[in-house]
Amino acid sequence: MKICVFGASGYVGASVYQRLKDIPDATVAGTYLNEPALFDDLYKLDVNEPESFSNFYKSEKPDVVVWAVMSGPNEHKLTDQGLMHLLTHLTPQTKLVYISSDFVFSNGDGPYSEEDPLHNLPDDHSFSNYTNGKVKAERLIDREFSNYVILRAGPIYGENAVGKLDERTDRLSYHLRSTKPIEFRDDLIRTFVHIEDLTNVIEEMAFNDVKGVYHVGSASQQSFYQFMKATAREMGYDETLVIKESEEEAVDTEIPKNTTLNTEKIKEVTDQKFR
Ligand SMILES: NC(=O)c1ccc[n+]([C@@H]2O[C@H](COP(=O)([O-])OP(=O)(O)OC[C@H]3O[C@@H](n4cnc5c(N)ncnc54)[C@H](OP(=O)(O)O)[C@@H]3O)[C@@H](O)[C@H]2O)c1
Repeated sequence: MKICVFGASGYVGASVYQRLKDIPDATVAGTYLNEPALFDDLYKLDVNEPESFSNFYKSEKPDVVVWAVMSGPNEHKLTDQGLMHLLTHLTPQTKLVYISSDFVFSNGDGPYSEEDPLHNLPDDHSFSNYTNGKVKAERLIDREFSNYVILRAGPIYGENAVGKLDERTDRLSYHLRSTKPIEFRDDLIRTFVHIEDLTNVIEEMAFNDVKGVYHVGSASQQSFYQFMKATAREMGYDETLVIKESEEEAVDTEIPKNTTLNTEKIKEVTDQKFR
């Protein structure tokens, strides 16, 4: 089986790439964009470049695609260009594993189930590019293709398969090592998912016939403040250095308060236990 991981130098993509490389029945190709690549054998590819995308895809002809690219403020372009290039090349036999986000629910009233409607943010909102890029991507995939699984995740945390921490825990650890206080919001409630649990599910989905949209993550909900305080404790740091951040914000930077995900549905298709 041939698997292509797009974004294999990123936090999630590298974890998936590293894991799949160890599977004897799989041949894995991965892409990166900016130097340095995390692995020596990745292909440098800008998925937004139609010609290079087409050349790469036709040379690989994957059975499974794991789409783990992300471009925050340019997410819309990644959907309009990169993902569109992918969709024009996919054959019905190829399975697409697309990683989406709880940000597709931008009206802030979780916990959400998979069937709940997606929401765009107003164009002038600072998170609109990411949110609206993801919403558009999910709609495009559903309209144009059927052999897909979309995994929606809240904040992803922990050490990935190549020993890299998520940016938030890394920042926490940096502050607490130097006994500096660090602030996190107590009014933003999320469903957190450990990178190893997510990687396990992506690996399973690459080899099974499961299709559709699934929420991944813990059954419990926590605020960033609660979660990071617990993380500090687990890491052996002084948790009192984790303090509550101000909840005042300008309207155009206000982000959805409770985007927790109901994660019951995925239990029907995997034995993975989410910590
Ligand atoms: N991290 C989270 O907490 C979180 C939460 C929910 C959902 N997700 C989703 O999970 C997926 C992976 O996120 P991540 O955290 O692993 O992000 P990441 O660490 O930023 O990795 C994304 C990768 O995308 C690549 N990329 C960006 N633009 C590209 C382009 N034009 N052409 C080719 N590659 C491009 C980058 O490659 P280079 O590094 O090589 O430049 C980068 O490594 C995304 O779909 C994201 O929306 C993440």
